[in-house]
Amino acid sequence: MSTNQFIPINLSKKDINGVASWSSPSNIALVKYWGKKENQIPENQSISFTLDACKTITKLTYTRKETVSTEYSFQVFLDKIHKPDFEPKIKIFFARIENYMPFLKEFHFKIETENTFPHSSGIASSASGMSALALCLMSIEKELKPEITNKEFIKKASFLARLGSGSACRSLEGDLVVWGKHKNIEGSSDLFGIKYPNQVHENFKNYQDTILLVDKGEKQVSSTVGHNLMHGHPFAQERFKQAEENITKIKDIFESGDLDAFIALVESEALTLHAMMMTSMPYFILMKPNTLEIINKIWNFRKETGLHISFTLDAGANVHILYPENETEAIIEFIKTELVAYCQNGHYICDRIGFGAKQL
Ligand code: DP6
Repeated sequence: MSTNQFIPINLSKKDINGVASWSSPSNIALVKYWGKKENQIPENQSISFTLDACKTITKLTYTRKETVSTEYSFQVFLDKIHKPDFEPKIKIFFARIENYMPFLKEFHFKIETENTFPHSSGIASSASGMSALALCLMSIEKELKPEITNKEFIKKASFLARLGSGSACRSLEGDLVVWGKHKNIEGSSDLFGIKYPNQVHENFKNYQDTILLVDKGEKQVSSTVGHNLMHGHPFAQERFKQAEENITKIKDIFESGDLDAFIALVESEALTLHAMMMTSMPYFILMKPNTLEIINKIWNFRKETGLHISFTLDAGANVHILYPENETEAIIEFIKTELVAYCQNGHYICDRIGFGAKQL
């Protein structure tokens, strides 16, 4: 599939100024994206639950410049505080998407953003942040080209968000999103995420995700560096093959509602992701002692109670505890009595699967 479809034609030059606002959620991958090619093309397919409570709210104020300059012109504010240190990342994003948004240098932008989760929670804000910004920019494009359909709008927003941060392309819709071309998933693409098109059993409706904040500090190794360490990684090709097979397996799991198979696949994916980090050169470990304490507690509790509690991890020490809605009461009780002690300052966030971004 060609990227040319995202180069807009017949954009109006009309003199517009205005404000676009979107909220966009975070997402948690079940089959993990780890390793990418040039231009943010993933080495393997991934699938995620879209979250509900953890999100970014972005307000983009745009003013047409009197004269077009050769520079991007923007300022970024987080929680109303000017953040010049965020600007290099946005500049890289603008440069990557300019071909598809040829009007970027014609405007001055004020980007005001806030997250519903604490900035220093160790929860990645790049997925929710980049998707919210991509949507705001698409709102400008829609003003300049009103005939764009909702479907095209979301597809292009996902395409742009991916160029900001790979996992961001999975934050626009819900409740499950696939990114990466897969033979068994119709419409899937390396260029953007799509809403999972196949059958999903009732067992997975309103699945819960309680995020235990084990370490709120800055990560020692960024995802971008981690992805790059998959180049020449001794296990990379096997890993990419495994992810592809796991997408096939999870498709059957979603159809049958087999929670035990779901747990086995999701936990194996999480540990494989971290195993890739531990076996890259240079190697690194993002889990903390408390991450392992929590995992062991979850395994014991599951064995004792037969409840369908499982965990997954992103590129950090925090633990996402996943469970079906009808087991919430017992599992929250377990979290409060047994696991909160391993969270930094006792902090955790109760989230659940959600349905994607919203225009405000
Ligand atoms: C471990 O999307 O943050 O969370 O594309 O370099 O911005 P960049 O990386 P990013 O990587 C996320 C990796 C992950 C797994 C996942 O979300 O699939």
